[in-house]
Amino acid sequence: MIVVTGATGVVGRPLVEFLDEAGADVRAVTRDAGAAKLSAGVEVVEGDPRRPATLAAALEGATSLFLHPRAAGDACAELVALAKERGIERVVALAAMNVDDDLAQQPSRYRGDRNKEAEDAAVGSGLEWTSLRAGFFALNTLTMWDGQIGKGDVVHGPYAEATEAPVHERDLAAVAAHALLTDDLVGRKPVLTGPQSLTYAEMLAAIGKAIDRPLSFQEIPPDAFKAHMMGFGFPEAFVDTYLAVIVKSVGRPALVTGEVEKILDRPALTFAEWAADHAADPPPSDS
Ligand SMILES: NC(=O)c1ccc[n+]([C@@H]2O[C@H](COP(=O)([O-])OP(=O)(O)OC[C@H]3O[C@@H](n4cnc5c(N)ncnc54)[C@H](OP(=O)(O)O)[C@@H]3O)[C@@H](O)[C@H]2O)c1
Repeated sequence: MIVVTGATGVVGRPLVEFLDEAGADVRAVTRDAGAAKLSAGVEVVEGDPRRPATLAAALEGATSLFLHPRAAGDACAELVALAKERGIERVVALAAMNVDDDLAQQPSRYRGDRNKEAEDAAVGSGLEWTSLRAGFFALNTLTMWDGQIGKGDVVHGPYAEATEAPVHERDLAAVAAHALLTDDLVGRKPVLTGPQSLTYAEMLAAIGKAIDRPLSFQEIPPDAFKAHMMGFGFPEAFVDTYLAVIVKSVGRPALVTGEVEKILDRPALTFAEWAADHAADPPPSDS
């Protein structure tokens, strides 16, 4: 039995799907079972990983835990300790490729993500562990641009020539499933990137191609971007650190590790494939 936290999210949802398809017994944890919309064969359990005691029953009789750093937040270590107490033998943590950077320079921390703590909890657990050090999710592009794409063909943002190697969420989930179902990744911290480095302008053009629209990127000054993001409620420290990180990538190819390909023994999904997969997504919200 595999307990998956973050099961309704970007990585967790396809992970649950892959595990279910592979015939594994899965318990999908969510704070709201009524809204989970997971496939019928999956056991859905209500609980909040940030309050580990609410998962005590879900962990009973299970052998493996997928530890999600946003779902568990500051409770990562407590949750893993409880899992161990309940007989869990393996923990696979989602983490990030920047976990070794200065904590103050990790933008996601200002939104409550605890990637470093998830990795540390897994590594220090005394259990079989894997830490999946994920790179830039391809889906971030929709978070950043969806609202603007809904309004026209020009997308405004800072640093058109900043680079990323966007990774498809289905590849992250496939690697997580591999870590849970085989012994190949025990004791490893693979850095999971997409297969190619692209500029922000190139990523936008690829989305345009997928939806058959001539999208173009128009650079705006970082201060204008900052005001825009703060207007949508993003914390100032998040925007400042994000800008500080991406400016460093301008003119430099993003790291491409090839780990997804090695682990899955097939090519990693490209950004063009990701964009095609999402071309028919519901119309963008006004963000
Ligand atoms: N975006 C990137 O480029 C990137 C790169 C590397 C690493 N990461 C890390 O990956 C993680 C995000 O993964 P994801 O996109 O799969 O997450 P997600 O979809 O946003 O969230 C996963 C699930 O966690 C639960 N959740 C969300 N916010 C919560 C909160 N505030 N309190 C308690 N539970 C919450 C929700 O489940 P229920 O509502 O069903 O309970 C949600 O479905 C973060 O730690 C992020 O830093 C991201």
